[in-house]
Amino acid sequence: MSSPVNEPVINTFRLTKVYRSGFRLKSVRALDSLDLQIEKGEIFGFLGPNGAGKTTLIKILMGLSKPTSGEASVFGESPRGARVKSRVGFLPESPYFYDYLTAAEFLKLSAGLSGMRGQEVAHSVRRLLKLVRMEHAANDQMRGFSRGMLQRMGIAQALINDPELVILDEPMGGLDPVGRKEFRDIIVALRERGKTVFFSTHILTDVEMICDRVGIVISGKMVDVGRLSEILTEEVESIEVAIAGVSGKFRKVLERVARHSIRSGDSLLLSVRNESDLDKVMAILREAGGDARIKSLVPQRKTLEDYFMAHVGGPASRDAAGRRNHDGY
Ligand SMILES: Nc1ncnc2c1ncn2[C@@H]1O[C@H](COP(=O)(O)OP(=O)(O)OP(=O)(O)O)[C@@H](O)[C@H]1O
Ligand SMILES: [Mg+2]
Repeated sequence: MSSPVNEPVINTFRLTKVYRSGFRLKSVRALDSLDLQIEKGEIFGFLGPNGAGKTTLIKILMGLSKPTSGEASVFGESPRGARVKSRVGFLPESPYFYDYLTAAEFLKLSAGLSGMRGQEVAHSVRRLLKLVRMEHAANDQMRGFSRGMLQRMGIAQALINDPELVILDEPMGGLDPVGRKEFRDIIVALRERGKTVFFSTHILTDVEMICDRVGIVISGKMVDVGRLSEILTEEVESIEVAIAGVSGKFRKVLERVARHSIRSGDSLLLSVRNESDLDKVMAILREAGGDARIKSLVPQRKTLEDYFMAHVGGPASRDAAGRRNHDGY
C-alpha cells in the first residue's frame, strides 16, 4: 500500500519517552515533545551528543519501544504494524551477528527471513555483497571480521528487502575514512533510487556532505532542524595564518595584531579576528620583505562542537552516567 501523496514518511508529534529505572525508579526524559517530519526521498541526519535520545527515537520508529506520550507514524501508520516493517530496513546501534555464519550465509538468512525465496535470494546476496564491497569475504566466517567489515554486513542486511525507508543507528561507527566514503556513496545511490534515509550520528563530517537536512537533538529536544549550512553559520570566526621567515622585530609586531600566536623557529602561526586584521598582517609582511612569506591561510568556521557547547555547556559531552565521552568531541 502506498502512502497518500503528501504524507511524510516519518512523522512525530510531541513525542515523549520517559524511562524509569533503578531502585528508586528515577525518571529520564529521553525524548521531550519531539516534532519531526521527514519527506520521501530525503537523506536526514539525526545529530546529537551521547545520551541525547537518538536510539530512543529510532526504537520507537521501529516499533520496538512505546512512547510515553505523543505520536509517531511511519508511512502514515503505527510503527508497530507488520505492514510498515516490510517497507523499512534497519541497522541497530550494536547489531548482533552469528559468528559461525559466513557473510553469504548471513545475508541468505536475512533474505529468507524477509520472505524471499530461491533465485531471488541468491541474486540479492550477490548484489549486496557487491554493494558493500564484501565479495572477497563471501565465504569467510563472520567471527574473523573487523568492526568495519561487520558494519558493512549490517548495512547490507538493512538493505536486503530493498526497503523504501532505511533507518540506521550510528552506521559509520567503526568505519575508516575509506569505509565512510563508500557508505556515503551507498546512501547517495539510495536517494537516486527515490529511497528515504534516516540515520543517527554524533559526528558532523558524517552528515555535512550528504544530508539534505539535519535535526539536532540535545537532551531529548529537537533544538534545530534544517540544512546544515543554515544551522552552522558559514560566518568566518577567525583566520589562521601560517607565516615563515619572520625576524624578531617584525614577529613582535605581528603578534600584537593577532588574537593568538604560536612560534616555532622562524615560523609563526597567527589567529586573526577578521579581514581587516589580515590586511594589517599583509602590510607588515610587505614591509618586512626578505624571506617573510605566507605559507597558508585558513578561515575558521563554527564547528558542531561550538554549537553543542553553546547549547548545553560542558555536560553535553558526558553520557547519562556522567562519564566523559571520548569519541567525537
Ligand atoms: N532502557 C532504558 N532505561 C533507562 N534509561 C534509558 C534506557 N535507554 C536509554 N535510556 C536513557 O535515555 C537517554 C537517551 O538515551 P539514547 O540511548 O536514546 O541516547 P543516544 O542519543 O542514542 O546516545 P548514544 O550517542 O550514546 O547512542 C539517556 O539518558 C539514556 O541513559
Ligand atoms: Mg544511541
